[in-house]
Amino acid sequence: MSMSLHQYLAREESLHDLDPVLSRLIVSVSEACKEISFKVRNGALAGVLGLAGTENVQGEDQKKLDVISNDIFVDAVARSGSVCGMVSEEIDHVMSVPEELPLGPYLICFDPLDGSSNIDINVSIGSIFSVLPAVRPKRVAADEDFLMSGRNQVAAGYCMYGPQTQLVLTFGRGVVMFTLDPTTGTFLLTQENVSVAREAKEFAINCSNMRHWEAPVKRYIAELLEGKTGVRGKDFNMRWIAAMVAEVHRILQRGGIFMYPRDHRDLSKPGKLRLMYEANPMAMLMENAGGAATTGRMPILDVVPQKIHERVAVFLGAADEVELVTGYHREADAAEAK
Ligand code: F6P
Ligand code: MN
Repeated sequence: MSMSLHQYLAREESLHDLDPVLSRLIVSVSEACKEISFKVRNGALAGVLGLAGTENVQGEDQKKLDVISNDIFVDAVARSGSVCGMVSEEIDHVMSVPEELPLGPYLICFDPLDGSSNIDINVSIGSIFSVLPAVRPKRVAADEDFLMSGRNQVAAGYCMYGPQTQLVLTFGRGVVMFTLDPTTGTFLLTQENVSVAREAKEFAINCSNMRHWEAPVKRYIAELLEGKTGVRGKDFNMRWIAAMVAEVHRILQRGGIFMYPRDHRDLSKPGKLRLMYEANPMAMLMENAGGAATTGRMPILDVVPQKIHERVAVFLGAADEVELVTGYHREADAAEAK
């Protein structure tokens, strides 16, 4: 019989002094994910598909499930008594915990429903979360309180709603995976010591944006596409699921590199993905699994955000590949500076 999430957290508390308040927060996140998973499973039967008829702060159309998942996350996390502020992809500013509920020492950032374009076609989607220590514990947090680098994260993870619902978690001591047992509603530990090989033979990037990419990205992808006959001397396979959660999950299971580079479409947006609730938690998972994660120019985890919904370029997965494409950026920048 596998260990439940609760038993795993109790073990971490006794072996590694995991803060019970942080444990409680993770349990609340897992409860939220379980509820979202049930909604996703029922789809049209629960009336959760389609547009909500509103836009989020990023100017993206909100799906009904984006809004429902956000409400579920906010409710569960606020009630946990472990946070003093919440940042969500779906809400402009930091959300405070309702007055009647206790405040805690942590801050949480989340993307309640990642991969929204997959909702209505019954393809994998997920929720992503990142936990930071509050500079002013138990005091109502403002936007500025969140502006610290991802190195400060004390926990991060995601839940994927695919053929199985899986919760993937790190406290900075490796990566563990739990699978939701649909008969009992319990998350059970199914994989410990998740690791990503340094080498890769699979890549993920949205090639429809190729004409907008910067030169080092064009160079790197051209070399991958040349396969055996090119400088890399081997063939590479390609995948694109259009849900970061699912791409990261594939890499944690069978390796590879995932990229969402910055491009020349809109220079005010350095990339598509958001730092605080997409790039940072995935970067922490990757580094803890022996992989790497950069913006092409620096480790994602070292970026200090200027605003809570900041965007960033993302290269993550197999360390050798991430280092190679990061080196190409370094070379191009040095040549330009001459
Ligand atoms: O949250 C943004 C996101 O949906 C990611 O999950 C995904 O990797 C990416 O956008 C897909 O982008 P595109 O629409 O360009 O394929
Ligand atoms: Mn997302």
